Amino acid sequence: MCGIFGYVGKENNSSIGIEALKRLEYRGYDSCGIAVFNAVKKNIGVEKVAGRISELEKKIAVKGIKGSAMIGHSRWATHGGPTVKNAHPHWDCHKDIHLVHNGIIENYKQIKDRLSKKGHKFISETDTEVLCHLIEEYATGSNGSKSYTLEEAVRRALGHVRGTYGIAVISKSDPNKIVAARMSSPLLIGVNDGEYVIASDPAAVITHTNKVIYLEDGDIAVLTKSGFRIADLNRAAQKRVEQELDWDVEEAQKGGYPHFMLKEIFEQPESLQNSIRGRLIQDEGMARLGGLEPVKERIKSIERVNILGCGTAYHAGLIGEYMFEEYAGVPCEVDFSAEFRYRKPIIDKNTAAIFVSQSGETADTLGALREAKEKGALCLGIVNTVGSSIVRMTDAGVYNHAGPEIGVASTKAFTSQLVVLALLTLYLGRLRGMSYVLGERIAKEIAKLPELTKTVLKQDNHIKEIAEKYKGAKSFLFIGRKYNYPIALEGALKLKEISYIHAEGLSAGELKHGHIALIDKNVPTIAIATRDSVYEKMLSNIQEIKARGGPVIAITTKGNTKLADIVDDIIYVPKNLEMLSPILTVIPLQLFAYHVAALNGRDVDKPRNLAKSVTVE
Ligand code: AGP
Ligand code: GLU
Repeated sequence: MCGIFGYVGKENNSSIGIEALKRLEYRGYDSCGIAVFNAVKKNIGVEKVAGRISELEKKIAVKGIKGSAMIGHSRWATHGGPTVKNAHPHWDCHKDIHLVHNGIIENYKQIKDRLSKKGHKFISETDTEVLCHLIEEYATGSNGSKSYTLEEAVRRALGHVRGTYGIAVISKSDPNKIVAARMSSPLLIGVNDGEYVIASDPAAVITHTNKVIYLEDGDIAVLTKSGFRIADLNRAAQKRVEQELDWDVEEAQKGGYPHFMLKEIFEQPESLQNSIRGRLIQDEGMARLGGLEPVKERIKSIERVNILGCGTAYHAGLIGEYMFEEYAGVPCEVDFSAEFRYRKPIIDKNTAAIFVSQSGETADTLGALREAKEKGALCLGIVNTVGSSIVRMTDAGVYNHAGPEIGVASTKAFTSQLVVLALLTLYLGRLRGMSYVLGERIAKEIAKLPELTKTVLKQDNHIKEIAEKYKGAKSFLFIGRKYNYPIALEGALKLKEISYIHAEGLSAGELKHGHIALIDKNVPTIAIATRDSVYEKMLSNIQEIKARGGPVIAITTKGNTKLADIVDDIIYVPKNLEMLSPILTVIPLQLFAYHVAALNGRDVDKPRNLAKSVTVE
């Protein structure tokens, strides 16, 4: 999610940190900060801003902060809005230990409550700050233990936390070193003569050196200007292989992928894991959605739900409607945000209005939110960007935790919206009489999703071959039914927006009511035909297209080899619950759109006429 950077070495200039943060800014950009140890003054200078790196740079230049060991952070908020107080680095009660963090500390609340009772003073709303105070306990011996070195204090502190972290820590009383640790958040060491850097990705390292060492989960590294060592959580020394990168900065930011969109498609196993982490109580067949706790009682008495969103977020809402009605037994209606306030929606205090938005800044969705608020509805958000306008205006909500999405075409944010809607279905369903057995089954299937998406991504080459075959077509149809009808809409939108090829998404049942007139040998149809309750109907629709000479590319469930005899091309996805299948079927469509656009030489990440966040009506 965010970018972290640390430097220790021969230079004495904080501009090194600023330059590195600029190259990490794409990872998160709501706030940033830097902490620099000055060996002469024996102090740590800190500067933070709730804005971009360029603003931080100006402030640092004015104050002239200098030093030869530093840590920096470019934040993508997960806990607490994008304010100066919440920006990293964070520190302990003595302003001695300074720390930057990428990831989420799941049990931060319990730790914070416990340490607050002991007298620790917290100044931010972040999960991160607990790490500083936990380390302080061991570094100062205030928990009754002896005082440990920074490395050992970090190790002991990490023994208390659950969640994900990539951290870099400096301390005034154990100076001239950086202690770094990793658990499920990326971290690497850059090795150069007389200087070492630590960063969450190669983009920040590459201008110093192309020699890097990737840390592994459980590694704790200590860097000084004369060397580094790595040990695990049990103090056993670890040897990690040095690699040589031949990437330039831009390639490094994209993780070696040619476009952010492709990188984000491939990040989905991880982003889904982040959306699910800590939210499933499998043995109770229930979801834990902390953001909804304050309104839990109101949610119990809700009589109907309205879902609002635009474009891809609207498609997620359509799938949410089917989930809520089938499994939670709540009547639900979905609107384009842009339409909602211009009709006369019937909503009142017993309505929950759910606003789905990656950016949290979409003007149409904000307009719909004002309307729903005005009418007294309980307003909930499913938003990826912490602290955004929609988050601030809603009564409560659930974050996606998908990480920053840079490509204009929404991919990982969409699948995270679907998984959050599935978690919400489980939550609402169990509050309203869903059986334990069903709840447990849904929870189990949700937990499998990150692994299952990996098997779909493995077919990238096959999908690219199909894209090569059809890249010259002037028009495409996408068809699906029930849960996969909105996926037909989403597949068509993805193709349109990045390849500029005409595409229409349809409910397969609607085809015969007019649209079938478009079919001929030059109009390929992509049919989402997973083995589910509507499979037989889908099969008939596919036959209708074949009978009129139209090429068909099918997406179906693994093992359904019979369909291969009927259609022209086939892509398999693993079996999962029908309501969760869209999370798997949309991935081949994202890849197909991507490859068609790339093969046609389109500007995939910044397609013409579009913007990532549409802040006008
Ligand atoms: C998706 O690929 C589009 N770029 C677009 O439809 C987008 O989903 C829509 O503008 C909504 O944006 P939001 O999620 O930030 O509100
Ligand atoms: N959870 C931390 C926060 O919200 C770190 C987020 C990040 O990875 O940027 O501050």
